[in-house]
Amino acid sequence: MKRTKLICVAGARPNFMKVAPLWRLLSCDRHFACVLVHTGQHYDEQLSGQFFRDLALPGHYLGVGSGSHAQQTAEVMRRFEPVLETECADGVIVVGDVNSTMAATVVAAKMHVPVCHVEAGLRSFDRSMPEEINRLITDAISDVLLVSEASGRRNLLSEGIPEYRIHLVGNLMIDSLRQCLGRAQRSGILSRLRINGRPFGLVTLHRPANVDRAESLDEIAAALIEISQTVPLYFPVHPRTRTHLERTTIGRSANITLLEPPGYLTFLGLMSHSSVVLTDSGGIQEETTVLGIPCLTLRKNTERPVTIEQGTNTLAGTRRASILAAWKAMREHPKTGCIPPLWDGAAAERCLDALHSYFRISRKPIRGRARAAEIVAF
Ligand code: UD1
Repeated sequence: MKRTKLICVAGARPNFMKVAPLWRLLSCDRHFACVLVHTGQHYDEQLSGQFFRDLALPGHYLGVGSGSHAQQTAEVMRRFEPVLETECADGVIVVGDVNSTMAATVVAAKMHVPVCHVEAGLRSFDRSMPEEINRLITDAISDVLLVSEASGRRNLLSEGIPEYRIHLVGNLMIDSLRQCLGRAQRSGILSRLRINGRPFGLVTLHRPANVDRAESLDEIAAALIEISQTVPLYFPVHPRTRTHLERTTIGRSANITLLEPPGYLTFLGLMSHSSVVLTDSGGIQEETTVLGIPCLTLRKNTERPVTIEQGTNTLAGTRRASILAAWKAMREHPKTGCIPPLWDGAAAERCLDALHSYFRISRKPIRGRARAAEIVAF
C-alpha cells in the first residue's frame, strides 16, 4: 500500500511542542509517511536543540537563521522548495504563526501541494504584529484548517473560509504539556534555583513591540521591579530581549533573577510551580490556563480569547500603571478559570482523524494508533 507522504514543518521554539505529538502519531500510522523539516529559524541550543531532545524529535535541518522578516521568509522559501520537490509529498503540515509557517505554506500552495494549518483562525486583529500577517496569509491559502479554540472557527467563517475545511480539534501544545508535565516536575530546577517551597513569579518577554522600543520596555521594567518587591521574579531572557534589557535597571534589581532561556522541560517545571506568570507569549497564556496559574499578559490584545473568557488569563496592557492595576486586581480577586473544551491531551488524535478524512483514508481504529499511545506515555 502506498503511504500518503506528509512533511511537517517547524521553525521556531513554540512550533516544536505543537509538532511533537502529531508527528509521533503520524509516524506510527501505516497510512502515512511523515518527514519532519526544521527550517532553522531558531538555531540556538536553548531555543532549538534542547527542545528537539526534550521532545524526542528527529529532523531535516534547513539552517535558515536570523534576518529581517523579508530575508528570513525568503530564505525559508528558497530552501524549502527543493525539499518539497525531492520528497514529492502529498501534503504539508504547518503549525502556529511564525515566519517559517507562512513561508512554507506559500511554497507548498504554489506547488499545488495541500497544506494543513494547525492552530488556524487565531486573530489578534492587530496587523502591526508580524504573527497576525502570517496567520492571515497562511489561513487564506491552506486546505485543512485545524482550530484550537472556538474563536478560531468563528474568525475563519467570517473571512469566508468554507466550513468543510475547518475542524475544531483542540490544542496540540496542551497534548505536549500533559505528556511532559511529570518529567518536567522532576527536572530539579527548583532546587537548582533554591526556590523550593517559596512563592515566586515567572516573567517572559520577547514581542518586538514590547522589547525593541526603549519607551515600552522601560514601562514594563518599572512595573516588574515594583511587583518584585512583593514576590521574587525569575526571568528567562529570550535572545531578542537580551541586548535591549541591558538599557534598563532590571539586571540590578535584587528580587529579579535573570536566567538563560531554559529547555522545554525545565521551563515547564518552573512554570508549573510558579504563583503568577507575567508574559507576552501566546502559548504561555494557554499553558497557564491549563495549569490553573494566574497569568498577566503584557499586551493590549490576545489572539487567544478563550484563555480570558474561561481560563486564568488577564490582559494587563503594557504601561506601568495598567500592569500594576491588573496585578492589584489579581491579588484581590484571583481568577480561577476552567480548562477550555478539547484541551484534553487528545488533540493529536483529532488532527489525525481530520487528515484521514481529507486524504479519504478509512477512519477505522488501526493497530498503529495503539502503538502511538504507548510511545507518547513517557
Ligand atoms: C519568533 C516568532 C514569534 C515567536 C518567537 C518565539 C516570527 C515573526 N516570530 O520571534 O512569533 O513567538 O519566535 O521565540 O516568526 N535569535 C538568537 N538565536 C536563535 C534565534 C533568534 O539569538 O536561535 C535572535 C537573533 O538576534 C534574531 C532574534 O533573536 O534576530 C529574533 O529571532 P526571530 O526568529 O527573528 O524572531 P523571534 O523574536 O524569536
